Amino acid sequence: MTKIKAALLGYGTVGQGIHEVLHEHQERFRTLLGKEVEIVAILVQNPSKYRDLPENIVVTKDFEKIITIPELDVVFEAIVGEEPALSYLTHALEKSIHVITANKMMFAKHANSLLEKARENHVKIGFEATTAGGTPVIRTIEQLLQVNQVEKIEAILNGTSNYILTAMSERSIDFETALAEAKEKGYAEADPANDIDGTDAFNKLMILSQLIFNEQPVWNKVEKTGIQDITSTAIQTAQENNEKYKHIAVIGKEGDQLKAEVSPLLLSSSHPLYNIDGVDNAIAITSNIVGTITLIGPGAGKLPTASAMVEDLVDIFQNGTNRHSTYPYKDQAAV
Ligand SMILES: NC(=O)c1ccc[n+]([C@@H]2O[C@H](COP(=O)([O-])OP(=O)(O)OC[C@H]3O[C@@H](n4cnc5c(N)ncnc54)[C@H](OP(=O)(O)O)[C@@H]3O)[C@@H](O)[C@H]2O)c1
Repeated sequence: MTKIKAALLGYGTVGQGIHEVLHEHQERFRTLLGKEVEIVAILVQNPSKYRDLPENIVVTKDFEKIITIPELDVVFEAIVGEEPALSYLTHALEKSIHVITANKMMFAKHANSLLEKARENHVKIGFEATTAGGTPVIRTIEQLLQVNQVEKIEAILNGTSNYILTAMSERSIDFETALAEAKEKGYAEADPANDIDGTDAFNKLMILSQLIFNEQPVWNKVEKTGIQDITSTAIQTAQENNEKYKHIAVIGKEGDQLKAEVSPLLLSSSHPLYNIDGVDNAIAITSNIVGTITLIGPGAGKLPTASAMVEDLVDIFQNGTNRHSTYPYKDQAAV
């Protein structure tokens, strides 16, 4: 049986999740694709940490050793930050290697150039994992709402913020205590700044904006407010009024203008996102025919994120055309 040859860029939470899922579901790949998927190489910063990996997998910090592997089919990218991820993925696409990424920070900014490269080289990019982790919002919008026109998105896109607001509300604890808890449980990053100040939700909202509206608002014109200034007293008062604070990312068109905002909002109990508690993400998609659909699910974590990436793999190898490439992405740098 022929094999799909895959490389992992990054072997942290997400990279290890992809390895685990690929390893455990070979039978399913045989059924769906008529092929097994083999990890042939892993890129990390510090290879000495990973001596226990099987000998037939090249573990290296040198990307050149990965990109020169003969007949490499696909690269899963799960490293952190804009560079070197962007350069690595650009290089992979130029060599006609498919790319699947979880890197929202990089993809929010550079989707256009990467998708253009993919088109030029007749390969595909999967980016389901960049937005709402394991909750399949990209594919729902792209494949299940093709006749519908999406008019508005309201979403909870950061599980850490949602966990903190839920904990403050349900157990009357203050922001600092809730944040410490989120760190202890592994929900918040060691440096949770991007989660707390709205940057992470903003990046995901920009990816959704590009997908739905074929453009992004000018970044510095989007109001972005985090949850750090919400007091226990404010949360208590909201509760007394049967309301909840939720950190909401919203985007829609007013006339020809895209309007986006990321901020804590007071929601009444009739709002579709009112009951989304803990680390879950949720996306309320309002379209012109169907009305509002709400997707709820895990927004991060090892297996949910790996799930999104492996579903991208199957989509890429099952389908002959790159539906993602029909979206005329523009680089934020050029906006
Ligand atoms: N964690 C989640 O739940 C989640 C969900 C959705 C999206 N994401 C995104 O997925 C990506 C990975 O997240 P993660 O949580 O798995 O991160 P992580 O646990 O910190 O792992 C990062 C991995 O990338 C490697 N790495 C970092 N910089 C590198 C470089 N310059 N060259 C080579 N390797 C490098 C690290 O190598 P060493 O092991 O040698 O240090 C490590 O193996 C991020 O972009 C994140 O935003 C994460």
